[in-house]
Amino acid sequence: MKILDNAELHQMSSMKVRARCKRLIYLETLDELSNILKEAKDKGEKLFILGGGTNVLFGSSFIDGWIICTKRLERKILVSGELIEVSGSYPTQGLVHIALENGLSGLEGLNGIPGTVGGAIAGNAGTRMGSIGDNLIWVDIMGFNGKVKRIERGKIEFGYRHCSLKGKGVIVGACFKLKKENPDVIRERMDEAKKLRESQPKGLNTLGCIFKNPPETPAGKLIEELGLKGERSGDAWISEIHGNFIVSDGSPDPDDVLHLIEKIKKQAEKRGIKLEEEIEVWR
Ligand code: EPU
Repeated sequence: MKILDNAELHQMSSMKVRARCKRLIYLETLDELSNILKEAKDKGEKLFILGGGTNVLFGSSFIDGWIICTKRLERKILVSGELIEVSGSYPTQGLVHIALENGLSGLEGLNGIPGTVGGAIAGNAGTRMGSIGDNLIWVDIMGFNGKVKRIERGKIEFGYRHCSLKGKGVIVGACFKLKKENPDVIRERMDEAKKLRESQPKGLNTLGCIFKNPPETPAGKLIEELGLKGERSGDAWISEIHGNFIVSDGSPDPDDVLHLIEKIKKQAEKRGIKLEEEIEVWR
């Protein structure tokens, strides 16, 4: 375990904003995690659970709480027939590739999605080819009392970028039931999923799509129609390539990213469309 006080967070989120937090804790074992969760609860500390940091915006230059980073947590993956049991800290791309190697289909739509399995489940990450919740059997979640509970799929509510377990604890494990398939077919589907992402900016700091698509129209299309592509605030700007991405090639101030988010929301509202963030903003 590593504990850093007044820690620099620049490397902890893929947007690379300049921010610090009261305490940053890297955990290696589930016992450490359990103890830290109990300690934070006893001390009344505000707690944030960080996986890969690919969908989280530090929305303030100082986060007055403890951030628990699960990336270094012990991890395992076990394939047994059509089942894959995996740790929450396992990289999503690792899972997708193990499924391919074992000729198991169902996770191809997740090809290219960064971050950890736990983070992907909490946000029901996916593409129009499918979401991570589709093939789940159960999830192990460690509650803020430090105890692990197994929750069957039927008791979890999944929706478009929504999972009812979010905010209920740390997702430490999951089991997927997949289907045997010819690896060439799986690879083809994975390529298809990759193609869906070709219209997205590459090589820049981003958090993926900022907003959920509202029922009226895709958020990226709307932002383009509003003429906001290329709009800049400090070191951050709205991608010229895809309107639903805020990008940077440096370390933006959290306020710059928030400013762009608010600007987009206000302009969308004038068109009668309410945009809702897909990313999580921590303050
Ligand atoms: N479009 C524009 N201008 C833009 C961007 C998009 O006109 O600047 C149009 C496209 O031409 C297309 C439509 O809007 O007709 C939808 O765009 P796209 O195909 O890029 O898909 P999306 O709805 O913007 C969704 C997910 C992505 C996922 C892709 C591919 C959401 C909010 N986004 O994007 O997920 O990668 O489909 O499956 O659901 C993410 O979760 O972070 C994410 C990026």
